[in-house]
Amino acid sequence: MRFTVAIDGPAAAGKGTISRAVAARFGFAHLDTGLLYRAVGRRALDGAAGGEIDAATAIAAARALDPADLKRDDLRTPAVAQAASVVAAIPEVRQALLDFQRDFAARDGGAVLDGRDIGTVICPDAELKLFVTASDAVRAERRYLELVAGGHDTTRAAVLEDLKARDARDAARDAAPLRPAQEAVLLDTTELSIEAAVEEAVNAVEERIEQGRG
Ligand code: CDP
Repeated sequence: MRFTVAIDGPAAAGKGTISRAVAARFGFAHLDTGLLYRAVGRRALDGAAGGEIDAATAIAAARALDPADLKRDDLRTPAVAQAASVVAAIPEVRQALLDFQRDFAARDGGAVLDGRDIGTVICPDAELKLFVTASDAVRAERRYLELVAGGHDTTRAAVLEDLKARDARDAARDAAPLRPAQEAVLLDTTELSIEAAVEEAVNAVEERIEQGRG
């Protein structure tokens, strides 16, 4: 069976948690596509002279991306998130990551992909598209708590700045900008517990599966 769930939305809206839960619930494979951009951003940062990310280095890193790169334990830092959003605006970087994502989505047994352009560019024919959002304050609070739990020394204000800067860059770029696909189901998690948000997503998948049978 082929069944693709595309989950997009701004930074720290809850896409990852919802995606993992939906994948576990239905036995689908899950790909966090943000990790691909973070891995390229990490490699570009490693090769950056004076902290300036060089497009050629980023493109080469995207073309040579290896599954082991996704397992590095230093991809979840704010600096890497910013670098990811810089390299993600480079069309050649996005192009280099396209086939891997589409192949993953087309696997037998179902797949959940989360990112920014899954419903619009990577999987325009996905059976279900969700666009997950939450207020800036709620997203910043959730990410702040995650980072602190992971041992990072940061402040709420710094986290909010990071999210806003990335959202602005992700939405303004020409290559696959962040925006909901036309037929996407909007899921605002501002007032929802994570359990309630997961339940809404699971219900949307079940409904779509039922429709497919009908
Ligand atoms: O976890 P969070 O929502 O903060 O970010 P992420 O999903 O790990 O993505 C990191 C960055 O990668 C984003 O800010 C985007 O610039 C970029 N990205 C993208 O352009 N397209 C995707 N499909 C996924 C991520």
